[in-house]
Amino acid sequence: MKVLIIGAEGMLGHDLVKVMSKNHELSTTTINTMDITDINKTIETVKKINPDVVIHAAAFTDVDGSESQADLAYKVNSLGTRNVAVACKETDSALVYISTDYVFDGTKGSPYHEYDQTNPLSIYGKTKLLGEVYIRDLLNKFYIVRTSWLYGYHGPNFITTMLKLAETHDQISVVGDQIGSPTYTVDLSNAIAKLIEKPVYGIYHITNSQHCTWYEYAQLIFDIAGKKVNLKPVTTEEFGSAASRPKYSVLENHNWKMEGFPKIRSFKDALKEYMDLL
Ligand SMILES: NC(=O)c1ccc[n+]([C@@H]2O[C@H](COP(=O)([O-])OP(=O)(O)OC[C@H]3O[C@@H](n4cnc5c(N)ncnc54)[C@H](OP(=O)(O)O)[C@@H]3O)[C@@H](O)[C@H]2O)c1
Repeated sequence: MKVLIIGAEGMLGHDLVKVMSKNHELSTTTINTMDITDINKTIETVKKINPDVVIHAAAFTDVDGSESQADLAYKVNSLGTRNVAVACKETDSALVYISTDYVFDGTKGSPYHEYDQTNPLSIYGKTKLLGEVYIRDLLNKFYIVRTSWLYGYHGPNFITTMLKLAETHDQISVVGDQIGSPTYTVDLSNAIAKLIEKPVYGIYHITNSQHCTWYEYAQLIFDIAGKKVNLKPVTTEEFGSAASRPKYSVLENHNWKMEGFPKIRSFKDALKEYMDLL
């Protein structure tokens, strides 16, 4: 198939390019070649490429920064996604949109299904959800892929942050009351490659299996790295981030399983593989 990856220079985008180039004729865009907030440029570029599938992995991803730059987050994540959807309508391309666990408020207390009620707590979550709404309003052929706590080789992430902090700090405070599923961008890219082979359009939760708190995640990172670090669990309130985050945002990969796709490996196995290659 002809596949266009938007946001090819992002953390996920890099791995999507690597995975998709194996079986597809690939085109890519970055913010420099196609700013998604420019509707004319977006339509013109997508029309020129005329892809079967567009994978939209571009976003304003600074969750805390979105609180003070709400208009920019809205412009990129909501209106930019609207622009991509309008372009896909013109070319009759299927659209894969990467969304987030932060569309939920975290009060459910058990894994979220695709049909559970959304209620984002942050500007970032609200703007990503509005991106979903535009896609659902404008297109018939879409896969909305909600994922969580991403890490990969091509971007700063929680693991690299922890390892860096350990070099300069005797003690590291980590949030111990938010639960989620760390997800490896390579595993997510492979899952998306499987998904686009079938016209099973709709909303998908796709994460590595099993879950942890950020504190447990940090413990595991230092265990694997063989580093002794004084870790201190703190509450969300003590940590004090600008954006509110869900306390529990584990995503049940329900539609993924219903379509017969194989269970995605545990975040612990994926993390070991990632850290072995660091
Ligand atoms: N990271 C996570 O934990 C996480 C969790 C759940 C869902 N997601 C979603 O997964 C997707 C990929 O995330 P990621 O972590 O790979 O993010 P990332 O590394 O920040 O990549 C996003 C890319 O989008 C580009 N971009 C920003 N504004 C743009 C614009 N106006 N037009 C075109 N491109 C633009 C960025 O370019 P610049 O770098 O030059 O700004 C960057 O290359 C996003 O949709 C994100 O919302 C991420």
